Amino acid sequence: MRVRGAALGMLLVAACRGTDPFVETARAVRPEAGAVVSEHPLATQVGLAVLDAGGNAADAAVATALALAVVYPQAGNLGGGGFAVFVGADGNASTLDFREVAPAGYAQDLYLGADGEVVKERSLVTPLAVGVPGSPLGLWELYRRHGSRRLSFAQLCEGAIALAENGFTVDPWLARDLASPSNQALLTHDPGAAAKFYPGGAPLAEGDRLVQPELGATLRRLAQRGPVGGFYRGEVAEALVADLREADRRAGFVAGERLLSLADLAAYEVRERPPLVGSFAGRTLVAMGPPSSGGVALLQVLGILEGMPLQRQRDARRERLALGLDVASEGDPAEREAASLGLDARAVHWWIEAFRRAFADRAEHLGDPDHVDVPVGELLAPAWLASRRVSIGERADLAVGALVRAPREASAETTHLSVVDRDGNAVALTTTLNDTFGSGLYVDAAGFLLNNELDDFSIKPGTPNLFGLVGGAANQLAPGRRPLSSMTPTVVLAPSGRVEVVIGAPGGPRIITAVTQVLLRMLAYGQPLEDAIRAPRLHQQWRPEVTRFEEGWPATLRGALDRDHGQPLREPERGGFASVQGIHVCEDGGVEAFSDPRRGGAAGVQGRGVARPASPRP
Ligand code: DON
Repeated sequence: MRVRGAALGMLLVAACRGTDPFVETARAVRPEAGAVVSEHPLATQVGLAVLDAGGNAADAAVATALALAVVYPQAGNLGGGGFAVFVGADGNASTLDFREVAPAGYAQDLYLGADGEVVKERSLVTPLAVGVPGSPLGLWELYRRHGSRRLSFAQLCEGAIALAENGFTVDPWLARDLASPSNQALLTHDPGAAAKFYPGGAPLAEGDRLVQPELGATLRRLAQRGPVGGFYRGEVAEALVADLREADRRAGFVAGERLLSLADLAAYEVRERPPLVGSFAGRTLVAMGPPSSGGVALLQVLGILEGMPLQRQRDARRERLALGLDVASEGDPAEREAASLGLDARAVHWWIEAFRRAFADRAEHLGDPDHVDVPVGELLAPAWLASRRVSIGERADLAVGALVRAPREASAETTHLSVVDRDGNAVALTTTLNDTFGSGLYVDAAGFLLNNELDDFSIKPGTPNLFGLVGGAANQLAPGRRPLSSMTPTVVLAPSGRVEVVIGAPGGPRIITAVTQVLLRMLAYGQPLEDAIRAPRLHQQWRPEVTRFEEGWPATLRGALDRDHGQPLREPERGGFASVQGIHVCEDGGVEAFSDPRRGGAAGVQGRGVARPASPRP
């Protein structure tokens, strides 16, 4: 789909404002350098080397993702799935869905106990958790459709192969995750994972070397034979099914004859989906559509807020401060920051209410578009967003529901990477095993972990999943379906059409609230990328009704949300508020890349190398 210069057709709101598009076009801005941001410095390094070797953004994204499968086993993967948004320098946008699929034999009955209730562990740690992996074919398709062809797929695998075969030094983040009692219990339940990550019974520690020859051999097969011969059929596929059979025996034959099969693997397909295109603050946003809810929720929230008088509210707060009618305690950095942005409780109340409404629609309407009728157009229609906007009053509306459609005649781990190249191509790619280390089930002979993505289904309406998300029929588990996701890989284009921001994050439903808040802060409040990523975040997902706050918000603002707006709030928390990986291309082509200091990732810019992790220690 061509997005540059095209009418924005179906979606969203108000006229352009901000930078004058014609001034930018005249400058023909291109990024002064390519950049890669990911959650591991070694993976960022691999991506940057591909850009330096003449690869484009798609090539670098593929190589970075493969490297993450080696150095970041918490979430980087061959045994999981994800989504990629590609925007070419020529203005063509395309999105790839390489989400996992429920095997042909899997249906709700397998997940329920004799009492008819969901047995939680089945969709988390048994073979019933595991969807047919999408990553190997997804990365191949990203290369095949959008790669530069200056480098072969085998060349893109080289960095990951070297890291697997030669090994790498365990960093403090992996050491911490392996030492956590819950992860240790998960991984030591599988003998192969136990041997690899807990040699001699103790977790690999910071500074240890992790060598993965089996994974190296799998990556070599992938490099030489491509994903069909190298993964979905042949030795790797056979090893995967054999290990699942063994895990099913350990779990008491919960899947039995209906276990994920060789036929399920052979049938896996990547889907090219229509990109979701919306606008906000004069920019064009290219986002991921269903089966991710990320793009719909992002565009709904920004679409609701664009019509709110955010600017007037900022001006009013600044005026009150100037007149001494409002005070921001000078000694409190959180107060000072909010005051300098003109941010007050009323505006944050609007953010929360917009999230509440978007997540209500998510729970009711979103699912796999190949199997259910997802009303994307209705959910993003200006009239629906306007009605949502005017429904926001001064008090929190905890009883808000979802879009009611007119009757019809018929019918805890993920990781994100962002890349731009010098030509102005961009890739935002989010990939996951779902929970940290996925299901904990490890394919011994092939050296990789399997996802527990099927927990993202609403296995029984009203029963919350791992992330407390509830859903209904639209996200019901059924054979061949893809579970609903919150992943929100997004590319923002400036009014001239050049790439401006490439962004995404891990964090379950907090991905949606994190990406939205960072973009809101950048595009509506003028904060630089780094400040917007560092800023404290909040999370509201409809159910539960309460809003969660990260540490660092002004106490006065939280007080006013409670008192003046009836917002139920949790005490401020530390940790768990997603980890945003962003690139910003400035008007003059300058490139800023920043990896969220909440985790140990690193940004790299051509000519400047890879920055030290923003936060070297957990
Ligand atoms: O697709 C989803 O929405 C989830 N499987 C993502 C899980 C996740 O982000 C956990 N990461 N920290």
